[in-house]
Amino acid sequence: MKIKFSYLLLFCTSLSITACSAQQNKTDDIMPQNEPKAVALHNDPYAKKIDSLLSIMTLEEKAGQMNQYNGFWEVTGPAPKDGDAALKYEHLRNGRVGSMLTVRGVDQVRAVQELVVEESRLGIPLIIGFDVIHGYKTLSPIPLAEAASWDMDAIKRSAEVGAAEAAASGINWTFAPMVDVSRDARWGRVMEGGGEDPYLGSKIAAARVKGFQGEDLSDPLTVAATAKHFAGYGFAEAGREYNKADIGNSTLYNIILPPFRAAEEAGVRTFMTGFNTLDEIPVTGNEFILRDILKGKWGFDGFVISDYASIEEMVTHGFVRDEKMATKQAIRAGVDMDMESYSYVNEIMALVEEGKLDEALVDDAVRRILRVKYELGLMDDPYKYLDKEREAEVVGNPAHHEAVLDMAKKSIVLLKNERNLLPLKKNGQKIALIGDLADDKNSPLGSWRIASDDNTAVSVLEGMQKYEGNELTFEQGAQLVVGEESFLTEVNFNTTDKSGFPAAVEAAKNADVVVMVLGEHGFQSGEGRSRTNLDLPGVQQELLEKVYEANKNVVLVLNNGRPLAIDWAAENIPAIVEAWQLGTETGNAVAQVLYGDYNPSGKLPMTFPRNIGQTPIYYNHQNTGRPEDPAPGEERVWWSHYMDVENTPLYPFGYGLSYTTFNYDNLKLNKDQYEMGEDVQVSVDLTNTGNYDGKEVVQLYIRDLYGSTVRPVRELKGFELVNLKKGEKRTINFTLTEDELGFYTNDGEYVVEPGEFEVFVGGNSVETLKTSFMLGEE
Ligand code: BGC
Repeated sequence: MKIKFSYLLLFCTSLSITACSAQQNKTDDIMPQNEPKAVALHNDPYAKKIDSLLSIMTLEEKAGQMNQYNGFWEVTGPAPKDGDAALKYEHLRNGRVGSMLTVRGVDQVRAVQELVVEESRLGIPLIIGFDVIHGYKTLSPIPLAEAASWDMDAIKRSAEVGAAEAAASGINWTFAPMVDVSRDARWGRVMEGGGEDPYLGSKIAAARVKGFQGEDLSDPLTVAATAKHFAGYGFAEAGREYNKADIGNSTLYNIILPPFRAAEEAGVRTFMTGFNTLDEIPVTGNEFILRDILKGKWGFDGFVISDYASIEEMVTHGFVRDEKMATKQAIRAGVDMDMESYSYVNEIMALVEEGKLDEALVDDAVRRILRVKYELGLMDDPYKYLDKEREAEVVGNPAHHEAVLDMAKKSIVLLKNERNLLPLKKNGQKIALIGDLADDKNSPLGSWRIASDDNTAVSVLEGMQKYEGNELTFEQGAQLVVGEESFLTEVNFNTTDKSGFPAAVEAAKNADVVVMVLGEHGFQSGEGRSRTNLDLPGVQQELLEKVYEANKNVVLVLNNGRPLAIDWAAENIPAIVEAWQLGTETGNAVAQVLYGDYNPSGKLPMTFPRNIGQTPIYYNHQNTGRPEDPAPGEERVWWSHYMDVENTPLYPFGYGLSYTTFNYDNLKLNKDQYEMGEDVQVSVDLTNTGNYDGKEVVQLYIRDLYGSTVRPVRELKGFELVNLKKGEKRTINFTLTEDELGFYTNDGEYVVEPGEFEVFVGGNSVETLKTSFMLGEE
């Protein structure tokens, strides 16, 4: 297998899932009997134009539209002479490239677009893709943090900001949102998703798609979005990146697919496959998932792109013999565009000419790609996204800083606040700020920030310095990272140098309150960054304990891209603030929360385990046949538990505190027996019982007590963000319809079954009020 070096050198491999209906015919010698059929695209306003264009395209030009290359040389410089870059350059000029990724900035994009438009025979413009994962230049919090806001308006706004900056830089298409559900914090890419829950994940998927795409794709401040990675990538076995996943049908249909479906329903224009296998078939060559479900059952009318080199990696997986076979299988499955495998551009012509691949499938792929180019307005004006003045005005616009600051504050989760240590008093206090991450301007930008400048986040130190009424001292305590900090390489942690400990301890002794900023570096989560440990890396735990010995008034501010196992801190440290990696405005957001200028309201989108051994741990688990100790105190072992740690998590899904307190009361249904198809009306009274105005995320869960497949002990089915003034009380209403009461069978059919249901409402997935009802007649 050839290896390509490029801006992002990315190697990929596998995962898995169960369930496959379509028989795959992989022989490359003959045209298969059961050749999949392209489904006609309905209501395509551009159909006529596309047909006439297709009719004059050569097969080579069609294959070109299906080929995407990564950015390669300084495109505004002289033409490259050697290697891949020279080849790509030639292919651009010859109409053999339909898209590029990671070329950015008006000048660079114009240079490649001109090559194609002015020099290739048909001049079909490129669509320019980019990973706008949590912003472009002005960075929002990492997506997992945004999910903690449960605030769909803010999440949508954040996507709008990223889209506007990217589009103003010449980009037409983002490879986001990642909507992979994951239950395993070891997997580094949990930072890029919406957490463990399919319901919350679906809402976020829709909000982000709408934010990126806006109302009108041809608006030069919007971009086409991508739902990725279709599907199952988030279930990498043991959390190890690119590993296989074993997923049963029920999990596939009820947990993995719903956020993708929500993105599709929100109008997402593209899907990306993944590096994983699904029932031992790489998803990039998987007819069941792409052809049968996505393009068949769901009627998706946009186009599908492979993941980076995932077509040629089907050879490495051991699924196909060579790239030719990989090409054939990917196209049969429904992958319309090849990201950087070179497979389509090399193999399609021969496959069709030799009668091994139906050209109708190629035409269908090209149609889909051209349609999105029309929708973006590129076919009418290839340069419409290329305006230097707009670029200067939009990228880094102050309004974007406000939006990401707002998002950052909403993403913060207060995990613990004993003795009302928070909010900090604004005057007359001696505050010791400790931890290398506290004055880090780079780590808060996270690991997906290719278009942003290093060291541009507001650090926590800078944010806190704005509160001048207190005496603030800073001590690093210990260096966190040794060596390079980069997107491409491993981050190494200081595990030996504790020379800064004494100064940190001294500062703590002299302070009224100590704020410690500890956790993971931004480059410690993300793609290729799995961990087998969920602790505070390096010598940070030791530093925390030493400082705590000197001063018990410690506020721990966590930075991390995944749930951490912080059992010692949860037991001992009086105040803990989950601050993730919050992007450009990190320090301002953290300081405003610490000082009470913003009352935190975030809730965890992923369960925090007590220790790594509990992973994967998630709230919507099944009951098992032996959920409880049958004889408490007698030390019997015959029940579902661990010998050394309890089953409950450290912090459950949906958990998060506020500076005020909320009381739930009077949970009611409008009936206790419902007909099939009838809506269930739920109401609950919520009162702000504390000393601050505040916001609560009211969460509704159900349990279907018995079903044709076993249902989870709780499933989130509704939530509402409620602002209440101090002392205020309000009744909150929810409606449960068939959309919330049913589930997917193992055959993928959605059913609502009669029987008994429980309803829970509260401020997290554990502490809830409960009631129940009967649905239908059994
Ligand atoms: C990732 C994708 C990403 C692509 C392009 C891959 O390695 O898995 O999510 O969009 O690279 O950068």
